[in-house]
Amino acid sequence: MTDLVGIARAFFEKGKGILAADESVHTATARLASYGVPASAEMRRQYRDLFLGAPDVEHHLSGVILFSETLLEEGNDKKLFPESLISRGIMPGVKVDLGTEPFSASPREFITNGLIGLPERLLEFKKQGAVFTKWRSVIRIDGDTLPSPQALHENAKRLASYAKEVQTAGMVPILEPEVLHEGKHSRARARAVISETLKILFSVLDEFSVDRASVILKTSMVLSGSESGKHDSPEEVADDTLATLMGNVPPQVSGIVFLSGGQTPDESTANLAAIARRAKEINAPWPLTFSYARALQEEALSVWKGKEENVPAARAAFLDRLAKVSAATIG
Ligand code: 13P
Repeated sequence: MTDLVGIARAFFEKGKGILAADESVHTATARLASYGVPASAEMRRQYRDLFLGAPDVEHHLSGVILFSETLLEEGNDKKLFPESLISRGIMPGVKVDLGTEPFSASPREFITNGLIGLPERLLEFKKQGAVFTKWRSVIRIDGDTLPSPQALHENAKRLASYAKEVQTAGMVPILEPEVLHEGKHSRARARAVISETLKILFSVLDEFSVDRASVILKTSMVLSGSESGKHDSPEEVADDTLATLMGNVPPQVSGIVFLSGGQTPDESTANLAAIARRAKEINAPWPLTFSYARALQEEALSVWKGKEENVPAARAAFLDRLAKVSAATIG
């Protein structure tokens, strides 16, 4: 039997974390366009190679979350991406949800799809080298009206069904209930919403008999909304984030990873360092690390611009940020 707890724990080796490189075709196209890179399957492959093919990433990465098409593609070294990652001791994983759609009971909110046919897709992904998976739900804050309890419950049920299927298939599930940073809300409101989201999630996971010890939680940090006009100090973020997690995440959970959520690379690095320091002070029961997409990629993409001659400088920018974020996990 696969040692799922052992795999889940292995993501948290000291100074290592996860690169989220699982942008869907739609998101990757929009992301590349914002840096002036034309859309094509080949440009997406080169985009992945920029990060996955960078030398020495194994010093800082324990895992990479891929989009399904990347599992089947080769890097410029002519090796399949999963094979190349495994050869460097990095675990390949895959995003298995199929994105969001408006929630019929509350159309200003989102619900995540992808449960139909999931067991069959998981078998394929496992054959293609994936050892872990991710499912993201999206929770939007709007004043005191959103999120609705119905959306929180429906998203939690889908995360729980997903987690159960993934554990049955012998892979580790990352559960990502992302509470969006976008909005005018206060940090106190973000804290209340993240608390409620996690409380509901863990109670539904128990109903579905999901093994807590082999799930990884991927969460937002507790931050004031991006349009609130308030800039939180790293200590404020760390205090509120740890208080929220301590109150709502069972100690058996194998570990917690953070998304960057649209923070700048510097903010996401400083906030993570403060969170790591606070976790040590209070003796938090789970290991913590990063699982960033934008904060790790942004600086490199603005150097790369889709041009081959810029690859070495873009990779240097990526490695520089990756080293800073890795150092932040140590506090
Ligand atoms: P960001 O770090 O850009 O928020 O992305 C993380 C992620 O995996 C979103 O699903």
